Amino acid sequence: MKRYPKAVKIYICSIVGLAVLLLVLMSYNVQIDTATVQGFLFFSALAVATESLPVYLGRGGAVTVTVALVYGSIILFGPAVSMYIMIIANVGSQFFSREKIEWHKVIFNCAQYVIAIAIAGVVYKFTGGSFSSNNFFNIIPLLLAALTFFTINITAITFILALVQRVPPWGIWVTSIKWTIPNMLTLPVLGLIMAYVYVTIGPLGVFLFFAPLLLARFIFKSYMDTRELYVNTLEALASALDAKDRYTRGHSDRVAKYAVELARQLKTPEDQVEVIQHMALLHDIGKIGISDELLNRVGRLSDEEFDLIKLHPVIGANILRDLNYMGSYTEYVRYHHEKFDGSGYPDGLKGDDIPLGARIITLADSFDAMTTDRSYRKKMTVEEALDEVRRCAGSHFDPYLARAFLECWQEKAPVPQMAAYIEMASLTEK
Ligand SMILES: [Fe+2]
Repeated sequence: MKRYPKAVKIYICSIVGLAVLLLVLMSYNVQIDTATVQGFLFFSALAVATESLPVYLGRGGAVTVTVALVYGSIILFGPAVSMYIMIIANVGSQFFSREKIEWHKVIFNCAQYVIAIAIAGVVYKFTGGSFSSNNFFNIIPLLLAALTFFTINITAITFILALVQRVPPWGIWVTSIKWTIPNMLTLPVLGLIMAYVYVTIGPLGVFLFFAPLLLARFIFKSYMDTRELYVNTLEALASALDAKDRYTRGHSDRVAKYAVELARQLKTPEDQVEVIQHMALLHDIGKIGISDELLNRVGRLSDEEFDLIKLHPVIGANILRDLNYMGSYTEYVRYHHEKFDGSGYPDGLKGDDIPLGARIITLADSFDAMTTDRSYRKKMTVEEALDEVRRCAGSHFDPYLARAFLECWQEKAPVPQMAAYIEMASLTEK
């Protein structure tokens, strides 16, 4: 907790404070009878089990099917009891986790759930829903309650991840949480059925009900695992490529990071930022078609040798074209050595004819090349490289992008992430 910036601490404390207040206020009128106690114990035990089986998301955070249980318990026992079930699920599941327990995260998670359940419960009640075991068909109140729960839960998590990772909240939403929306929308329906089964068949019926829930979790987890494997493969491919040339170790990774910073500065939609990141990682993949001897040659190259190296954008785009996902984005690789004034290669494209993604990668690639040592020259300082970007705006670089890139450094100077990449570059050179 100590390592977090002040804004994160204030945010966590506010969420926890509000949750404690709601917990106290809503516990005040809870009616305790035998059926409620039995239901509470049964749902708590199940919730600990489901909460112990999370699916981890791409950029941090995780989802579980516990939410379906909570919807069921809201319908049967009301929000106050459900809040405690959720707290027990979150705290209890920690003891089944192999990872070190970070209590501030557990407390924050419990707190945001408590707020979401409390407000969803109020919405459910005031839109005509009832908390009982014989009235399951308040569909409109249930959907409104689910929408409320979903919105509060997603917003609370999006903001904490955005504050901690210092990225725009929308970025977190698109790259991680967007994938959970279908899951989140089916959970209230599962919760409703679960409540119905609990009352009509009993606890055994709910156990049987768990089979499809576990199947849903399995499918969702397989999807997330495949996605992660895909990104890891791209990164491994890029590192293998960089290792071919001793002067370019870590180059692809840094180019991808600069390209992402620049794309975000231009307010590019986050799914496009992700594509640019992947293409930047692979921009020099065509160099696997160039001999190591030529790539590692010390000193100036002859015109014929340089012509061979100039083939790498086309070779790279051809390699990637066979991968379905890449589609037209392989153009970013093909055109990453084009220049804004038309003097680049391979096709001598000019201005806006060069795809935006390729123009972004060109600038990121050149900046990293300038700020790292090469066989034929020493690296420039950041200031010298930025002067070069300024000087070449309109000739080598798109002037609009050059301005945005300079703003990246000036506005947030020193941009923490960018300064870190430069540090990373000097470390890998040693
Ligand atoms: Fe290149």
